[in-house]
Amino acid sequence: MSSNLEITRKACVVGWPIAHSRSPIIHNFWLTHLGLAGSYESVAVTPPDFASFAHDLAANGFVGANVTIPHKQTAFEVCGKVSPTAASLGAVNTLWLEHGALCGDNTDVAGFLAALDEEAPGWDTASGPAVVLGAGGAARAVVHALRHRGKRVLLANRTRARAESLATDAGAGVEVYDWAQLPSALEGASLLVNTTSLGMKGHPALDIDLAPLPPHAVVNDIVYFPLETTLLRAAKSRGLRTVSGVGMLLHQAAPGFERWFGVRPSVTPELRGLVEADVLKSL
Ligand code: ATR
Repeated sequence: MSSNLEITRKACVVGWPIAHSRSPIIHNFWLTHLGLAGSYESVAVTPPDFASFAHDLAANGFVGANVTIPHKQTAFEVCGKVSPTAASLGAVNTLWLEHGALCGDNTDVAGFLAALDEEAPGWDTASGPAVVLGAGGAARAVVHALRHRGKRVLLANRTRARAESLATDAGAGVEVYDWAQLPSALEGASLLVNTTSLGMKGHPALDIDLAPLPPHAVVNDIVYFPLETTLLRAAKSRGLRTVSGVGMLLHQAAPGFERWFGVRPSVTPELRGLVEADVLKSL
């Protein structure tokens, strides 16, 4: 009985566009290495079609899905039950079914923290606040994660009003800085996180002076395309510890896999190498 169920288990990543998602590489690696008889595919769904796609998830044979741009807010709205993290963010990136009801979580938060814990251990006990750049959906997940670990956050965004709205929603412990005030924000900071699209291939570089950061600071760019952004290169040349966006990508995938296929997968060097090679190939 249970082996029949395993054979039919099928999950997907849904977005628009979806062609460049690395999620199939990650989940199919785990399925193969754990010897599980499931499958994981990419599904392109337009914004007007997303709600009915989510509603018909089980009818279409899926046990769950990852949700990516631009559907994370709609995914939150169509869920019957969401995790406290997803409720705080108003965004869902992982769907599964419980007794036919659509449930949602936002694993970007846990993924972000797991990557930092793995690649920069001790980051959260270092003195000094975290500086976060950006105020989009990714920034919301990052700020939530940092507050969860008790870090004070200094938030700067090109459009200050968006940063203010994020800070209001996040509550105490988040202070908005103007972009021009970054040098003073960085002074004494223990962590810098870029959540903007600056530095991504095809976008302008994130060009900021890292000189004010103390030597114990960690620099984390959640951009992973390219693997080493200008920001990370500058941080390395200053001798700072760096964390690329690949770790968050890998770790955010694990909770969904566990829900759908029943086994907690590991983020191994082999998997990381596979995803990094795929990124390099498409650059
Ligand atoms: P996501 O949901 O992935 O975080 P988003 O909501 O489009 O994506 O947010 C992109 C972030 O990159 C925003 O903080 C955006 O700044 P604005 O709020 O001012 O738009 C930031 N960003 C994009 N292009 C930028 C640029 N050229 N200079 C500075 N910030 C930029």
